[in-house]
Amino acid sequence: LYGESRQNSAGLEFGCAAERNALVEGMNKVEAFVEAHPLGAGLSRGGDANPVFSPMDGSTKVGTVRFADKDTARKAIETAQKGFESWSRIPVHERAAVMDRVADLLEENSDRLMTIMSLEGGKCLTDGIAEIREAVDFCRYYAHEARTLFGEGRLMPGPTGEENRYRYRGRGVFVCISPWNFPLAIFLGQISAALLAGNAVVAKPAEQTPLIAHETAKLMYQAGVPENAFFLLPGEGDIGAALTSHPAVAGVAFTGSTETAWAINGTLAAKRGPIVPLIAETGGINAMLVDATALPEQVCDDVMMSAFRSAGQRCSALRLLYVQEDVADGLLQMLEGAAKELKLGDPRLPSTDIGPVIDEEARDGILSHVDDMKESQTLRYAGPAPSGPLRNGSWVAPHIIELDKAEALTREVFGPVLHVVRYKAKDIDAVLNQIAATGYGLTLGVHSRIDATVKKVVDRLSVGNVYVNRNTIGAVVGTQPFGGSGLSGTGPKAGGPAYLTRFALEQVVSINT
Ligand code: NAD
Ligand code: ALA
Repeated sequence: LYGESRQNSAGLEFGCAAERNALVEGMNKVEAFVEAHPLGAGLSRGGDANPVFSPMDGSTKVGTVRFADKDTARKAIETAQKGFESWSRIPVHERAAVMDRVADLLEENSDRLMTIMSLEGGKCLTDGIAEIREAVDFCRYYAHEARTLFGEGRLMPGPTGEENRYRYRGRGVFVCISPWNFPLAIFLGQISAALLAGNAVVAKPAEQTPLIAHETAKLMYQAGVPENAFFLLPGEGDIGAALTSHPAVAGVAFTGSTETAWAINGTLAAKRGPIVPLIAETGGINAMLVDATALPEQVCDDVMMSAFRSAGQRCSALRLLYVQEDVADGLLQMLEGAAKELKLGDPRLPSTDIGPVIDEEARDGILSHVDDMKESQTLRYAGPAPSGPLRNGSWVAPHIIELDKAEALTREVFGPVLHVVRYKAKDIDAVLNQIAATGYGLTLGVHSRIDATVKKVVDRLSVGNVYVNRNTIGAVVGTQPFGGSGLSGTGPKAGGPAYLTRFALEQVVSINT
């Protein structure tokens, strides 16, 4: 029944002027100042209120945040242990109904959520619309999956006189640690899955985006999530480390950089206590191959979208484009022309294509990478950053850099920088070996009209999400379950059928009847 009735959110049609204008009008009316602080049963409000400024200009104050301290982190875990006892006993259809209500509230409050995400995180309208849709879809998809998975369990075959029942149940207190680049969808995706599986949750959002996390947490309580089953701890990495090192933690869901995933793995391994699961979704040096049979106009559109949408601040974004040398000059010319058309600006304006990057540290890191690259590689295009009132913000215009060899790119550069390298058709196996040798495996694009080439690429590489003759971003919940392998993550895939099971304990009850 649920399988037939569940549908992804209709969201908002940005191409429709009436819907777009209504959104902008709604956002203009929103008073978006948020005062964020730790939330959950018995927690104090935290330390000093620090101002949160928009990355758009570095001076618009969009809220304040009081970070949690380590005592608060400990208290949250310990109170959550008690909350787990009651939350895990609530029948799954009630937990699922709560999460469906969260989804409804997200839709009802979308103008406000969009405004906060734009001001705090620099999200453009198209990204904000997609993010709310994804968050809604996560809640409803996992609620639907939970109803099937967490019921009475499954009777297993066995001898006469014995009943063997296999079932899933919550594990205890799950720590959910999320990044700033999907401050609503990934934040809530982890939490909703953990709660639906019957766990209590202590969540630490990224330090750059506490306001949207706070706003979402309030909607969760409004929907009926008990205050002793869900805790919000704004804080920096040290609070994440304090949470993951607590002996009572029953599991960790993390999305962020590979370096932090290693650190959390180390913290969990060093504990002398229960051995608990780590779900880690990390980054990648995502590649796309374009051969001489590909359609250049389509490739150009898909590369623009994959490399520059969201200012390149997607884990799925294209970092390294391999172009067959026969078509490289023509394609590079098209890409440079298309990049020139991209408009940087206030992310709340419908005409803006690229908003600011998340903060000054990110901006400086990306621009210093470009400076380094200019020394030895060829800078093909560098767009202008905004001037006027926005000149002090964290802006990085699109850049296209041609590499003399793929190995010149050694790490994920998390911004609007596309690297391009030429390859000879006869060297395709070497190219595939090169991609495999990076150790990452998140997204991969192939543009070719030769079936055998597509098959060769898809079969050779252990990449989580492969996109053929299209762009490589915007995986849809329930349609393109998302997540990588190797240095890019542990799986299971977010928005896919195996996700909830990794938050759960498997139990078998054998009864001699
Ligand atoms: P990050 O690793 O710096 O931070 C992520 C979270 O980890 C933050 O909440 C941070 O405070 C916390 N943290 C930092 N140190 C910690 C520690 N020692 N222990 C526990 N928690 C700690 O990542 P980021 O800069 O916020 O996000 C960008 C990265 O996330 C990119 O690498 C991107 O590719 C990746 N990402 C991956 C996916 C995916 O689904 N695979 C999705 C989005 C982003
Ligand atoms: N799920 C996000 C995307 O596919 C990261 O772009």
